[in-house]
Amino acid sequence: MIIHSPQPWDKVNQSEDRYFEGNLEAWRALTDANKAGKIRAIGVSNFLQEDIDNLLQNAEVKPMVNQVLCHISNIPLELIRYCQSQGIVMEAYSPIAHGVALKNLVITDMAEKYGVTPAQLCIRYDIQLGMIVLPKTANPEHMKSNAEVDFTISDADMDILKNVPKIQDYGAAGFFPVYGGKL
Ligand SMILES: NC(=O)c1ccc[n+]([C@@H]2O[C@H](COP(=O)([O-])OP(=O)(O)OC[C@H]3O[C@@H](n4cnc5c(N)ncnc54)[C@H](OP(=O)(O)O)[C@@H]3O)[C@@H](O)[C@H]2O)c1
Repeated sequence: MIIHSPQPWDKVNQSEDRYFEGNLEAWRALTDANKAGKIRAIGVSNFLQEDIDNLLQNAEVKPMVNQVLCHISNIPLELIRYCQSQGIVMEAYSPIAHGVALKNLVITDMAEKYGVTPAQLCIRYDIQLGMIVLPKTANPEHMKSNAEVDFTISDADMDILKNVPKIQDYGAAGFFPVYGGKL
């Protein structure tokens, strides 16, 4: 079970308040439930370094995972490295940019070079950052091919992909706070 966001959903991108006290309380409740054996694993999502530090400095146990937006063109590299250095597993949500990455020419060209689909390239990219990857699909064929990512992106190509300009427009999903929108 994870805390979805350090801020209330309708305050994301609207408030400077990081709700440190509230997060400590929510985290204490998750910790108690974990200790009581009611939930097996506990973590957080959309936590920035300052939110993580609040828990590391003031809570009894650290989060097992931090689930964050991470896809080619939008990679929170410093946060990933920081959490990993603290022993927190990083999980990537929307690894295919909610589908938008499939239209990106750098990604589609690079996928062609490796003989894989753009979705496979996106998923493999996050795996090579040391992350657990959470792609979503309603299509069984996509589900099967999304699991077939036993290839290696070279260091040089990882670097090229690291510098893909940030996707600004997530289309119809753009209003969701996680994609920069405001409810
Ligand atoms: N913690 C958070 O705040 C947060 C926020 C957002 C999302 N998430 C989680 O992250 C997971 C994934 O999120 P997501 O849906 O935003 O993103 P995603 O996995 O980046 O993208 C899903 C889209 O990609 C398409 N797709 C997937 N595989 C494909 C393939 N092989 N070929 C072509 N199209 C493909 C899907 O269409 P088809 O169905 O047609 O394949 C769907 O339109 C979900 O479980 C979600 O709950 C968490």
